[in-house]
Amino acid sequence: MKKIVYVAMSVDLIHKGHINIIKEASKLGDVVVGLLTDKAISSYKRLPFMPYESRKLIIEQIKGVDKVIEQRTHNYRENLLILRPNYVVHGDDWREGPQKKVRDEVIETLKEWNGELVEIPYTENISSTILNKNMREIGTTPNTRLSLLKRMLSAKSIIRLNEVHNGLSGLITEKAKIEKDGRVIEFDAMWSSSLTDSTAKGKPDIEAIDMTSRMNTVNDIFEVTTKPMIFDADTGGKNEHFTFTVKSLERLGVSAVVIEDKVGLKKNSLLGNSVHQEQDSIKNFQEKISLGKKSQVTNDFMIIARIESLILSKGLDDALERAKSYIDAGADGIMIHSKEKDPDEIFEFCSKYKESKPLMIVPTSYNAITEDEWESRGVNIICYANHMLRSAYPAMLSTALSILKNKRSLEASDKCISINDILDLIPGTK
Ligand code: SPV
Ligand code: MG
Repeated sequence: MKKIVYVAMSVDLIHKGHINIIKEASKLGDVVVGLLTDKAISSYKRLPFMPYESRKLIIEQIKGVDKVIEQRTHNYRENLLILRPNYVVHGDDWREGPQKKVRDEVIETLKEWNGELVEIPYTENISSTILNKNMREIGTTPNTRLSLLKRMLSAKSIIRLNEVHNGLSGLITEKAKIEKDGRVIEFDAMWSSSLTDSTAKGKPDIEAIDMTSRMNTVNDIFEVTTKPMIFDADTGGKNEHFTFTVKSLERLGVSAVVIEDKVGLKKNSLLGNSVHQEQDSIKNFQEKISLGKKSQVTNDFMIIARIESLILSKGLDDALERAKSYIDAGADGIMIHSKEKDPDEIFEFCSKYKESKPLMIVPTSYNAITEDEWESRGVNIICYANHMLRSAYPAMLSTALSILKNKRSLEASDKCISINDILDLIPGTK
């Protein structure tokens, strides 16, 4: 009987290293490729450029591949127990580092039926990491970027947004990453905040920055990033105007817009009832959502309805009724906001929220809860809404004061990025 050879792969940026592994594997028997699902890949690194179905089409055509099946987790065990292959083939580059744990488990599992792990010498001069970097430098297109958010929402149970207000904060959000327990942890997407876009321009967060200016900021950010964006459109303006905003955002490649159910002069939500703020009627806001949905051009663009009932002390029942009404009107998700330090009202909302559409929160004031806990409470999008700008400001102020006090910059320079590092920071500077 022909031997079964199992090879797990992501097949996103396919290169000669992959072909070599399949070639070697096929010498040992029938090659079954366990193609990692988007979910499996995004459990430990960035969502693949191509969706599962495209990756499957490609790998099925490669010579030496006999069968392609889904691998639904980063670890192999589930598929190995079903297939009981004679061999597992992998490059020898996983003996150390983040994949080591997965490798150890493969070896242990194979022992159960005397299977064998065969490791192929790593193909030099090729690396997915370098290909990935090159891909990012090439950039992306509006449609590809736009569709990423929906793909992420179906591949991951929680996605993490970081606030951006210019190219530099965009670059930080694009590139910042840490490695923990064999997983790469990074921001999934960007939040274009009305508060920080306004503040960065020295203006109040009252819809005083017009859409053209807001979209110029987005354009600056999109020039140097590839991650998807959710755009804070405040109240969305007049219903008739909102339809144009939707189309313009889509044209740029923004994935989703959040509009809040307020009317009249909008003030920042974290001010709550300390200033006059008025909530829209359910009916009017439903109409705005529905006009927006009708005006969108792509299938993937999302309109997320933001509920201000807790901000304006209207209570949980009002918030829940609005959630249902806004989803009925076509909203693709709900953002529930609160300015309390205590997360209880948001916890309660989460437990009573029964709609099938994603739930987004902005834990600026109730910031002690971890992402893992939010995930277990059913939150799908978590937004760090203003932290890039808020951390930059005190650093800049302290430098300015130090220069004034010392009549020179020497004392401040320790806290500054060096000129050399800044020349390295942005690709193409040197
Ligand atoms: C923003 O970031 O502009 C928001 C969130 O709308 S909040 O400032 O908390 O209202
Ligand atoms: Mg805002």
